[in-house]
Amino acid sequence: MKTIIEPFKIKSVEPIRFTTKEERVKILKNAGYNTFMVPADDVLIDLLTDSGTSAMSAKQWAGIMEGDESYAGSKSFYRFEKAVKKITGLEYIIPTHQGRAAEKILFFNVGAKGKYIPNNTHFDTTRANIEFTGAEAVDLLNEIGKKPEVRADFKGDMDVEKLEAFIKDKGVENIPLCMITVTNNSGGGQPVSMKNIREVKAVCKKYGIPLFLDACRFAENAYFIKKREKGYENKSVLEIAQEMFSYADGATMSAKKDALVNIGGFLAMNDPDLAMKCRNLLIVTEGFPTYGGLAGRDLEAVAQGLEEVVDEHYLEYRIRSVEYLGEKLVAAGVPIIEPPGGHAIYIDAKRFLPDVPSEQFPGQSITCELYIEGGIRAVEIGSVMFGKYDKDGKLIPPPMELVRMAIPRRVYTQSHIDYLIEVILEVYKNRKSLKGYEITYQAPMLRHFTAQFAPVK
Ligand SMILES: Cc1ncc(COP(=O)(O)O)c(C=O)c1O
Repeated sequence: MKTIIEPFKIKSVEPIRFTTKEERVKILKNAGYNTFMVPADDVLIDLLTDSGTSAMSAKQWAGIMEGDESYAGSKSFYRFEKAVKKITGLEYIIPTHQGRAAEKILFFNVGAKGKYIPNNTHFDTTRANIEFTGAEAVDLLNEIGKKPEVRADFKGDMDVEKLEAFIKDKGVENIPLCMITVTNNSGGGQPVSMKNIREVKAVCKKYGIPLFLDACRFAENAYFIKKREKGYENKSVLEIAQEMFSYADGATMSAKKDALVNIGGFLAMNDPDLAMKCRNLLIVTEGFPTYGGLAGRDLEAVAQGLEEVVDEHYLEYRIRSVEYLGEKLVAAGVPIIEPPGGHAIYIDAKRFLPDVPSEQFPGQSITCELYIEGGIRAVEIGSVMFGKYDKDGKLIPPPMELVRMAIPRRVYTQSHIDYLIEVILEVYKNRKSLKGYEITYQAPMLRHFTAQFAPVK
């Protein structure tokens, strides 16, 4: 059959609240034109993030009841540890309450002023946790990954030549580790090839630099490798994931993505000394090493989710749903990052609104309009999120101005997606009437979460 169906039945439902366009205009104004500040109950289809928004399976909910809440050495921890080891093969598994806690613990131990951490593209929390230690987070994405309109199979690949030149320039002693983010969220959810992971590892090995995966979406990445990279078509997703991790000396993971849970994460590594330092900090900031800020029931749900996420029927449905949305938008002329990535569609705001300059945040403008038009919540990933300023206060925009619509896992059906397409096409039709925005309040770090905006007059 050509039709790919949702590989699950729906057992429990949550009603969504409908609002009128007039109501949404007021709600957005009250939220300072920042969709992060809009109450979720006022959102019809919530595509703010795919993080922690998955629908859990009956087996995961059963695991919640099974959770062993012992403070130390809980049964649930050992199940969790076994599930993580099965996929990653890494030796020391440290649970954390989410991905950024793993990042904080790791970079507190290896980051400092004068240190550099290269990545294909750092996610915002990774960058913030690195910069918080005084170290510098450096993106070394290959050139094709920066061209939204160019179709290529592995636009998340790191530029290996640049990495080697960077190591020589900054000095091995100043690079405590190198990261690869799979898939590359901030670069459009684009996958990284096995070939690239292998090549990056070879460079890291040559200079004695540990390689860490930011593994939030490892299963989606593995599925892309299976579909697109020669030699992997007959391997299982689990085998591919295991090979990806075999090149890594460690990993950070937000289980809120590819472990299909609402909370959780981990830090994993092979270096016993670093693991000890990380566990010591974990005890101060997260909890005892066998729960790390999570309840036993959460560890059960992660363990079960890690088994389910490598199911190929699930991944086929997951990747195809995102691709379907992308195809319809491209057919109607809406500029998006092509080809669609694993977890989200990214509108290319520069091409969507060519007359709104980066200083007026074109991505923010589209995000606001999607909410007003159809109650859709998306997020700007452009100058609001990643803009820097020079000493004269002039904006240095990031390479791309994007609007991300992240699809929660196992939550929305095809008719939700069809409605979404209708809303986007309506906004696109009216794009000439869209105005830019200015920031009226911003926090010193991660400003996009709480910034307040006003439309430019
Ligand atoms: C690539 C990547 N790394 C790290 C994180 C941080 O994870 P968390 O939100 O669980 O702290 C995210 C979350 O969206 C992510 O996408």
